[in-house]
Amino acid sequence: MRRKLVVLGATGSIGRQTLDVAREFADEIEIHALASHRNASLLAEQARSSRPAEVVLVAGSPEGHDFGGARVKTGAEAMTDLCRDPDADLVVVATTGSAGLQPTLAALRVGKLVALANKETLVMAGPVIQAELRDHGGSLVPIDSEHSAIWQCLQGEVPESVERLTLTASGGALRSLSLAKLSSVTPEQALRHPTWSMGSKITIDSANLMNKGLEVIEARWLFDMDIERIGVVLHAQSVVHSLVTFRDGSVKAQLGLPDMRLPIQYALSSPHRWESSRTRLAIEEVGCLDFAPVDMARYPALRLALAVGRAGGTFPAALCAGDEVAVTAFLSGSIAFTDIPVIVQDVLDAHVNCSHPTLDDILQADQSARETAARRVSFRQYS
Ligand SMILES: NC(=O)c1ccc[n+]([C@@H]2O[C@H](COP(=O)([O-])OP(=O)(O)OC[C@H]3O[C@@H](n4cnc5c(N)ncnc54)[C@H](OP(=O)(O)O)[C@@H]3O)[C@@H](O)[C@H]2O)c1
Repeated sequence: MRRKLVVLGATGSIGRQTLDVAREFADEIEIHALASHRNASLLAEQARSSRPAEVVLVAGSPEGHDFGGARVKTGAEAMTDLCRDPDADLVVVATTGSAGLQPTLAALRVGKLVALANKETLVMAGPVIQAELRDHGGSLVPIDSEHSAIWQCLQGEVPESVERLTLTASGGALRSLSLAKLSSVTPEQALRHPTWSMGSKITIDSANLMNKGLEVIEARWLFDMDIERIGVVLHAQSVVHSLVTFRDGSVKAQLGLPDMRLPIQYALSSPHRWESSRTRLAIEEVGCLDFAPVDMARYPALRLALAVGRAGGTFPAALCAGDEVAVTAFLSGSIAFTDIPVIVQDVLDAHVNCSHPTLDDILQADQSARETAARRVSFRQYS
């Protein structure tokens, strides 16, 4: 029987690729519902081709668009309601930023399978998500390529055998630029990722390695691993997606072309593997694989994220919110690329940590960090 899929963030990079995978494996997956933020025209086009029962446009207007007969709702609560729909089997959470948190919790609370692309959800609220998984029987699988790689390496292994996780990082669009030139980088330059095609927020986060810091925190919660046992290595080719070192000294890695449809597909097919027609990795054409340690002096955003991951509490929520505001400001030309970690640092300095937060504490930290970051952005903009 086909499983019924809900896609949140359907109009984004991961959402569109999820629909590609669902189209390729239409015998396995049926699109049950789609949600996006404001992009009514693309959501309508997707609804006409994939024929979901329901669509949700969180903040835009559906007026004047043809959704192919789907029920149309608006608002964030309607998106969260999709995750509780008893007819849905699994939910892909591919929104950006904090928007994925409440829907993920709602889906887990009713025992659904969640395929999570939205790393901010786990970064902000790892312990709350873990408690939800423990108490309500839902399950969570990764879409992020690094975490999918680790998950695949861990198949058939017992947790006590794992010594260390190593996440690979391409180094992003600015990896060859001198430190002196980073302050004058334009959004167009920072958005030119050498190996992956992704949404703008994650592409900027990849250019300063904030993304890798968020991924370390994500891995900490997904695999229940002490943060000191999670490392990062530069690997420009983006062919080795991550590695696991076991206590006997053996190392497993997962390799593949840099194409997000593969980890998306595995999240939907696991524990099975569906036969795909996509191009295979030809390792002989790759030639050699390069790895290098990360120069921490070059990446203050990564340093901040790792420190926040160690501190825990509401710091990670403040980090995510501050970064979201700062990246938006950089993309709109209001601040310099190098201001992003400075603003995040300011937000963290102003934050009063709550070490064992409830969901309300996390949402409150998110809100107040956004306000602090917005003030810091306008200060830097006019100073
Ligand atoms: N792209 C990748 O290759 C990749 C890889 C690993 C992990 N991820 C993670 O996956 C998530 C999505 O990334 P992306 O690159 O696909 O982003 P994206 O291309 O910017 O797409 C974001 C999607 O989320 C929707 N959205 C934004 N704010 C929303 C809100 N408040 N409520 C509901 N929907 C909202 C957008 O709707 P509109 O189009 O209507 O604005 C869009 O559909 C991020 O957390 C990212 O870190 C992405």
